[in-house]
Amino acid sequence: MTCVGIESTAHTFGIGIVKYPPFQILCDVRRVYRPVSGGIHPSEAAKHHMEKAVDALREAASRVDFRKIDIVAFARGPGLGPCLRVGAALARMLSLKLEKPLVGVNHAASHINIARVLTKAINPVILYVSGGNTQVLHVSGDKYVILGETEDIAVGNLIDVFARKAGLGFPGGPRVMELASKSNRLVKLPYSIKGMNVSFSGMLTMLERLIGRESVEDLCFSLQETAFSMLIEVSERAMAMLGVNEFIIAGGVGANMRLRQMAGEMCRERNAVFKDYPPEYYADNGVMIAWEGVVQYLLGERLSIEDSIVKPRWRITDVKPPPARLYEN
Ligand code: ATP
Ligand code: FE2
Repeated sequence: MTCVGIESTAHTFGIGIVKYPPFQILCDVRRVYRPVSGGIHPSEAAKHHMEKAVDALREAASRVDFRKIDIVAFARGPGLGPCLRVGAALARMLSLKLEKPLVGVNHAASHINIARVLTKAINPVILYVSGGNTQVLHVSGDKYVILGETEDIAVGNLIDVFARKAGLGFPGGPRVMELASKSNRLVKLPYSIKGMNVSFSGMLTMLERLIGRESVEDLCFSLQETAFSMLIEVSERAMAMLGVNEFIIAGGVGANMRLRQMAGEMCRERNAVFKDYPPEYYADNGVMIAWEGVVQYLLGERLSIEDSIVKPRWRITDVKPPPARLYEN
């Protein structure tokens, strides 16, 4: 079966097409919104997606014959309402035009399942780290279980807000990573873990105070070393508690080389395996939506056009994960 997936939850408008079985990526078109100033403005991002949708669709159609598509999937939530509605409208239209079933998928589950299909991880502890989320999860039976999470802001938000205040632009991740690689001087920052939860707001306040007093390279380095050590420590705790020996990372912050390096070291030390995949699939994209469309279609999900209203606050604990056998080959 062939599934087209539309991503439009926040900054990226993406159209991905996958085929299964076996899993194969046929097309991956992305248009990324970059705010002129500040963070993401929902209505501006939605306007960007609307303006780019036709062009992105044309590019996808030039690669894949849309008559071969069997399923139309879109990111139904969580995300920014105005942005979600652009993707939903295009998906409804495609579903009607192609006369193919519509499937609305969860953005967080899509990040996790693209990681699983690319790594073939059967029973991993999952660290989901992005602009809006910081969670340590595990799949237990037919449920996603959140073992730990941030008590305040997401790690991607810590990075983006710090970067904005330091004049590094948006998104902050790639620039912070680049500047961090030019330093090895650790400035002491709050290291806050409670059980398997983390907290980053104290670190952000301290970083904001230090802008202009310490070099920006040292601050980027210290942010990464401190925040990522916290994330790796809680992930390791989860692995020890469950007796699990596979680890994967999902979400945009996973594109960070230093975070993935620390993950590899932690796993080697405890005889476990960190399963990595190409960095471009950590960030938001349409391919992950298309794959989650296949997963949910196989689980029996179908959405009528009338019921396809978006869900800006859809929680992953209300979503069904696929059975592990989907990844066993
Ligand atoms: P979600 O709904 O999953 O929270 P999102 O809108 O945050 O999605 P993603 O593409 O999953 O989108 O993640 C974006 C985040 O990833 C941003 O905070 C960005 O700064 C961060 N990021 C991107 N590249 C890097 C990098 N190299 N190092 C650290 N962070 C990065
Ligand atoms: Fe995301």
